[in-house]
Amino acid sequence: MANILVTQHIGDEGVQKLCEAGHAVTYRDETEPMTPDELQTAVLDVDGLVCLLTDRVDTAVLNAAANLKMIANVAVGYDNIDLAAATERGILVSNTPDVLTETTADHAFALLLAIARRIPEADTFMRAGKYDKFEMFPPLLGLDVYGKTLGIVGLGRIGTAVARRGALGFGMKVLYTANSRKMAVEQELNAARATLPELLRQSDFVSINVPLTPETRHLFTLETLRQMKPTACLINTARGPIVKEDDLLTALREKTIWGAALDVFEAEPQMTSGLAQHHERLVVAPHLGSATGDTRQKMVNTAVKNLLVGLAGQKPPDVLNTEIADQANE
Ligand code: GLV
Repeated sequence: MANILVTQHIGDEGVQKLCEAGHAVTYRDETEPMTPDELQTAVLDVDGLVCLLTDRVDTAVLNAAANLKMIANVAVGYDNIDLAAATERGILVSNTPDVLTETTADHAFALLLAIARRIPEADTFMRAGKYDKFEMFPPLLGLDVYGKTLGIVGLGRIGTAVARRGALGFGMKVLYTANSRKMAVEQELNAARATLPELLRQSDFVSINVPLTPETRHLFTLETLRQMKPTACLINTARGPIVKEDDLLTALREKTIWGAALDVFEAEPQMTSGLAQHHERLVVAPHLGSATGDTRQKMVNTAVKNLLVGLAGQKPPDVLNTEIADQANE
């Protein structure tokens, strides 16, 4: 039997599975993360941790958690966990890939269409009773999507799923950045690998799909945004700090780029002051990429499964520090 801490609300199904496996579960059924001090105290006797992307599992938490064997993050991104420090301490870490890929790509594409056709602005316009005449060239003219160029910054699982929607659904030409060439995707979608400056220069829509790392933090500054076409849109469904939000606001105000759609923010849940007041050609959503009921439940089930397997001394299917799992199973 292991002591398991579930840091925030994940619904009863996942918690029940942990209990049914015979573990002692402390379920903090709250929708706010703990403070760093609270988390450090809560992990003292814990063997297994189920946490969300808003829980910062840093060295202070890891040092406090002397018994910790495994962390199951209920998210595909894991920049909230100090993976290197966990690995040094022999703690397994898992995430929830695959189950959210298509859902998140749907959302990225929804945002792309919403910004291109100015759907939120149109909705506000209608509700304000401003539609009093049909015009050939209305104030809310949008952009074509079909046949345009889609630049994917980071052709991983989600980036590929966004690319597929663009190429197969909307006849888009796909450019991508990645650490290596993705031959299968190139063949399937007629996609071409490009450097970031090439991609920015040529794309009509730029979708950010890289993880947050020291290398990608502030990858998009005013300098980067200036390399985009003035008719192009930026879509970020990855992590907020990849875009320097003050610079994006400047770029939108100065019309350096045409528009932006953001699902994630630099200091979530806050937005840089000014963004909330900027309505023109800016779409914002509260980190909803994977937020369908089915997918969120699959993410919980995936995290729970990983934790149960890891605590049973086997290799969790989505382990991130495979070296530890392999060592333990040698
Ligand atoms: C959501 O942002 C996730 O990483 O799963």
